[in-house]
Amino acid sequence: MLRRKIVAGNWKMNKTLTEARELVKSLQSLIGSDVQERVVIIPPFPFLGVLSSDLSGSSIHLGAQDCSAHAQGAYTGEVSAGALKSVGCSYVLVGHSERRGYHHEQETLLIEKTKQALLSGLTVILCVGESLEERRNGSQEQVVGKQIMSIWNALNDTERAQLIMAYEPVWAIGTGETASPEQAQSMHAFIRALIKDNYGDALADNLTILYGGSCNAQNAKELFACPDIDGGLIGGASLKADDFTKIVYSL
Ligand code: PGA
Repeated sequence: MLRRKIVAGNWKMNKTLTEARELVKSLQSLIGSDVQERVVIIPPFPFLGVLSSDLSGSSIHLGAQDCSAHAQGAYTGEVSAGALKSVGCSYVLVGHSERRGYHHEQETLLIEKTKQALLSGLTVILCVGESLEERRNGSQEQVVGKQIMSIWNALNDTERAQLIMAYEPVWAIGTGETASPEQAQSMHAFIRALIKDNYGDALADNLTILYGGSCNAQNAKELFACPDIDGGLIGGASLKADDFTKIVYSL
């Protein structure tokens, strides 16, 4: 997969079906067909099938916030990657810090989720990022490096090439405190160099790395101007059509 520009809206646990359909309708009218291709929306599970139909004819992509580590079977409450693909998803988030934190998702589970997603033909957006304490004690590169390597090492090159990375410092998520462009660029450059050193030039050069954490209509342009930032994973600001559209056009 070649390096591309993406703005992905992670809606988290927000909106009713009616509100979700209204937001999609607004996005389709506000975002021109020339840039729709770079947009991914990631709504809650129950809305995916309907929104997939609503999006037919547009080139906005659909993603899911999580998937099961299992292909199918007796796993009550889980949603398989295959099911997501069958309703029109092409992306899935794996390892978002809210899954790691609130649901205690560890690397072994994230490896299985990643493999299931890739087997089903989904593009994985693999999320990594350090906590406030880790940033304060200066261990952000060590922490993020370990998060990446523990999963990348368990995959082969074909699988690695299907990954998109999202750097999301936990201290910036939903807090209104954004990483400065310098802080974000420095971590993105670190991630690309880590991939280059361990897996080679081609995977590093083609890797898409998104920034996430209080990215909004005001700060997106400056963040996206950084050479190693290929777009954003947007939470709160993806819930409003005008704000999200401004972010898309900042890329
Ligand atoms: P935020 O969330 O933009 O609301 O900080 C980003 C994310 O968690 O993906």
